[in-house]
Amino acid sequence: MASFVQYLGHAGFIVQHGGVKILIDPWFHSAFLHSWFPYPDNRHLLSEVRSERFNYLYVSHAHEDHYDERLLRMLDRSVTVIAPKYRSKGMVRRFHGLGFGNVIALDHQESHELTPGFVATMYLDTSHKEDSGLLLDMNGFRLLDLNDCNTPMSELPKQVDLLAAQFSGAMWYPGCYDYPPEVMQKKVDSVRHALMDTLYRKVKLTNAKAYIPSAGPPCFLDPVLERHNDRQRTIFPQWEDVADAFRKACPHVEVLRIYPGDSVRIEGARPVVDRMSGARTHEDVREYRQRRRDEWGEFYAAPESPITSDEIAGYFSRLQRRNNHLLQDFHKDIRLSSGGRLWSIRLGGTAEPLVIEGEEQNEPEYTIVLSPRVLRALLDGGTGWEEALLSMRLALHREPDVFDLRFMSLLRYGDEPVQTLQLVRDQSVTETIERDGLRMQRFCPHAGEDLTHAIIRDGIIECPRHHWQWDARTGKCLAGGNLRLRVEVLEVERTDPEIEEGA
Ligand code: FES
Repeated sequence: MASFVQYLGHAGFIVQHGGVKILIDPWFHSAFLHSWFPYPDNRHLLSEVRSERFNYLYVSHAHEDHYDERLLRMLDRSVTVIAPKYRSKGMVRRFHGLGFGNVIALDHQESHELTPGFVATMYLDTSHKEDSGLLLDMNGFRLLDLNDCNTPMSELPKQVDLLAAQFSGAMWYPGCYDYPPEVMQKKVDSVRHALMDTLYRKVKLTNAKAYIPSAGPPCFLDPVLERHNDRQRTIFPQWEDVADAFRKACPHVEVLRIYPGDSVRIEGARPVVDRMSGARTHEDVREYRQRRRDEWGEFYAAPESPITSDEIAGYFSRLQRRNNHLLQDFHKDIRLSSGGRLWSIRLGGTAEPLVIEGEEQNEPEYTIVLSPRVLRALLDGGTGWEEALLSMRLALHREPDVFDLRFMSLLRYGDEPVQTLQLVRDQSVTETIERDGLRMQRFCPHAGEDLTHAIIRDGIIECPRHHWQWDARTGKCLAGGNLRLRVEVLEVERTDPEIEEGA
């Protein structure tokens, strides 16, 4: 009995086995303030997806390039939704809100039989972040769809036949920052290297036999965002830009380079690609921009309304009150610049945030430049900071040039305080591991990666996920952010002056 995996573009798939079909992360419409579009264009598949009857629907997380609400509203509501069971219950709430009555929420590593011989198992990012992947076992053939999810490496499933995972970036760093060109290029190169390194590890740890490049890159159709389509100077490469490096790092892994509409037929243990005739393999961005003019133009359609200092004070006051647990011992001066106006804002502690319009004496640590349209959407709750950042429609400057986890988490997750609460809990986990003559905290203080897989060499500990680095003797953060790592050098190793790379 053959099984089929049809690719819908980006992170979207239809998987069929034993007469049951599951639709995964279907994305067709603009995302993040109308800035992201699928690449290549996959609109030729939309009518098929709208009219098809699916048994199951799985959406990995709330980012709009996975959770396409416009498309979801077009689907038959009787489909059974497989949802990740996040602490916030956010995904389940969203689906109920859209009128989907059958929602099965699966916890980390929890399984559900879709039909005999077809089993879905959920894999969560177990940190404060809310993201998930799905393992589909089809009579022993194991497809792992990790999209851009980072499940701790020690908890990834093994013996995977086919892995679908990201290779291209899906974040605003460093693109939103105002770095000079040569600094920007270094940072871009470093992120691209880190993305591929993480992919190699996922491939090796899951023993993947074959790999589908997926979950990116997007395309930016609004002309003001055109620079983000540069595949060399951004964190958004196409597969062809990284394929040689992948082949060298993972020579025994078969790469299935497929395009929207193509399918993978699974017969026995072997995946075979069936090409869709006329599948789009690339785009002329100018033509694509013309075709979707009305859609990216929606960003400019809403009328601009004046913003008051009271609205800004009220917004940050609410955000701060809901996340007091995150802001103990925290103070930060930030500046908002929008439409020729400036607001200086002092955040942190238990007091109300101080908001003053006009120039301030204190040099802010973060400056956020954004259009009144984006600021209006944030203040009215039409979008969140995570989406606004991903839209690339704002610019950031930080002084010093260090990522502040608490501040960025306040913005990104502050609307779901259960996430910031988890971040605080993660910081207090005391579990340790011993490796290479060191006793250190087991989970990365950034986003909970299991440091059992850390790279330790030349006196530096490096997290394998986002590659923050710490001094192995002091725990001081050397690169990536501003959080220390709890680490001590073990007695027995003190005679050895070098801390070498571990297994
Ligand atoms: S989880 Fe991000 S650097 Fe460790």
